[in-house]
Amino acid sequence: MTIKKIQKSDLLAIYQREKKHLISAVKEGNSAYHIFSLSTINNQQPESRMVVLRKVNESPFRLFFNLDARSPKSNQLKNNKFCSTLFYDQSRRIQMRMKCSIDIHYNNDVTQRVWNNTALQSRKCYMGPYNPSSKLNKWHPNVPLQYIDKDPTKEDSEQGYKNFMHIQLNIVEADILELHYDGHVRFQVLDNNEINFLSA
Ligand SMILES: Cc1cc2nc3c(=O)[nH]c(=O)nc-3n(C[C@H](O)[C@H](O)[C@H](O)COP(=O)(O)O)c2cc1C
Repeated sequence: MTIKKIQKSDLLAIYQREKKHLISAVKEGNSAYHIFSLSTINNQQPESRMVVLRKVNESPFRLFFNLDARSPKSNQLKNNKFCSTLFYDQSRRIQMRMKCSIDIHYNNDVTQRVWNNTALQSRKCYMGPYNPSSKLNKWHPNVPLQYIDKDPTKEDSEQGYKNFMHIQLNIVEADILELHYDGHVRFQVLDNNEINFLSA
């Protein structure tokens, strides 16, 4: 039986390849990387939820997503500027976990540019009358009821902008795990681009 040989240069190639997968996932709704788990700290308790990958910057390596400025996760990110992301591509059996520091974009030139490119259908999510995750006495879809089954007008959709936040995740450390029958491959990439094998 032959044991495969994995060099550090292979790890860099894997890392670059996964960045490319992230980039294409932004536009491909069916891609495994289109949605990822984001974990934040709520007081001392971790909290995770799924969010949609909206943009990737290859170098420096950054990820971006949108959220409602009224949501608990928004406050958690304001209070603690570090979070963790988790991606898993089941078809290729690759997990990617990243420690990130964050920059919050709100009511600035960045959010204005992103908002201008946000579809009316998506803008509707920021027009809800209730703060996201707040308790309701009875069911409400938390979108304006007149737009429940249609897009808002462009003019009305502008109401959502005050609730629109764009989060920039600066990758501090990445941990990549490839599952293989002939031996898993796991490694970390640090902020200074140092790459280390990790035991799987
Ligand atoms: C597939 C999927 C994608 C989601 N994408 C986003 C997103 O991009 N931004 C967001 O704020 N919430 C998104 N959500 C909703 C959150 O996962 C979560 O349920 C809700 O925002 C909880 O907010 P909190 O953690 O602030 O209480 C998504 C949920 C699912 C199931």
